[in-house]
Amino acid sequence: MTVQHITVVGAGVMGRGIAYVSALAGYTTTLVDTSQVQLDAALHFMNKTSQKGVSLGKITAEQKGRVKENISFSSQLEEVVSKTDFLIEAVPEKRSIKQHVLEVAEKYAPSEAIFTSNTSTISPTELASYTKRPEKFAVMHFFNPVHLMQLIEIVKGLETGQEAIAAIKEVASGMGKDTVEVNEFPGFVTSRISALVGNEAFHMLQEGVASAEHIDKAIKLGLNYPMGPLELGDLVGLDTRLNNLKYLHETLGEKYRPAPLLEQYVKAGRLGRKTGRGVYDYTNEEELIKK
Ligand SMILES: NC(=O)c1ccc[n+]([C@@H]2O[C@H](COP(=O)([O-])OP(=O)(O)OC[C@H]3O[C@@H](n4cnc5c(N)ncnc54)[C@H](O)[C@@H]3O)[C@@H](O)[C@H]2O)c1
Repeated sequence: MTVQHITVVGAGVMGRGIAYVSALAGYTTTLVDTSQVQLDAALHFMNKTSQKGVSLGKITAEQKGRVKENISFSSQLEEVVSKTDFLIEAVPEKRSIKQHVLEVAEKYAPSEAIFTSNTSTISPTELASYTKRPEKFAVMHFFNPVHLMQLIEIVKGLETGQEAIAAIKEVASGMGKDTVEVNEFPGFVTSRISALVGNEAFHMLQEGVASAEHIDKAIKLGLNYPMGPLELGDLVGLDTRLNNLKYLHETLGEKYRPAPLLEQYVKAGRLGRKTGRGVYDYTNEEELIKK
């Protein structure tokens, strides 16, 4: 099948990045969110990212124009999906929210449209069960920040068909991304490792093993990670990290029980970069896009 129109649902940290690379790749793209504030912030993000891309020589002025031309914003999922070829769901990591979005999309989207989810942990078979097209459903797991990270993890559900995998690979390649195919298991490859390392760093912070800066510095310089696990948590969003851990704890067992300090930060509204404060404080960073 030829994909022309892509719908991205959820204009948060991930959805806005996915919509940006989709528009840049030449797909007519609509970004859908229930929050106008989030859609406005996503537009701001796209203008800023494309402007920065041009000034750094990463994209041309013509490509910047293409992003603008190809992207639109909406709060009307029913209307948008009625003409879509390809859906990428990027709403919060809560089954009830994902279920609602997928059920609405199922009702209004053409039967041949491919459905994907950017979930970090949840089973594609379970998500596909909220639709009537399990053979056209798979997880398409992007990484943050989407326009810089090369990989998309494709996770197949029980009934995912080869045609859907081929279409997803083609879209991924059009976006300039490389892919790995993973069989269904909670947390796939990357989230399972990342959640464990991130949670351990929170335990160490809680135990007073070292300061946040020194934990991150040790992991970066000693283990050659490009980012420390605590700064990565702030980038991912501590609420998202906590939701991932809760799901992995439920499905894979005790070693994924979320660190109490992480739960406390989330209760306090310290969600990371997106709220201006997480483990670190970002209130003076001018590039920060506040919620
Ligand atoms: N943050 C990361 O680094 C990262 C990386 C890979 C995958 N993911 C996954 O991507 C998904 C989204 O994560 P995020 O960090 O972008 O979350 P986020 O909280 O930043 O954004 C979620 C967005 O969804 C919107 N939303 C909520 N309910 C909606 C609905 N019913 N219809 C339309 N929009 C709705 C919210 O308004 C918000 O803008 C999650 O499944 C997460 O696990 C996140």
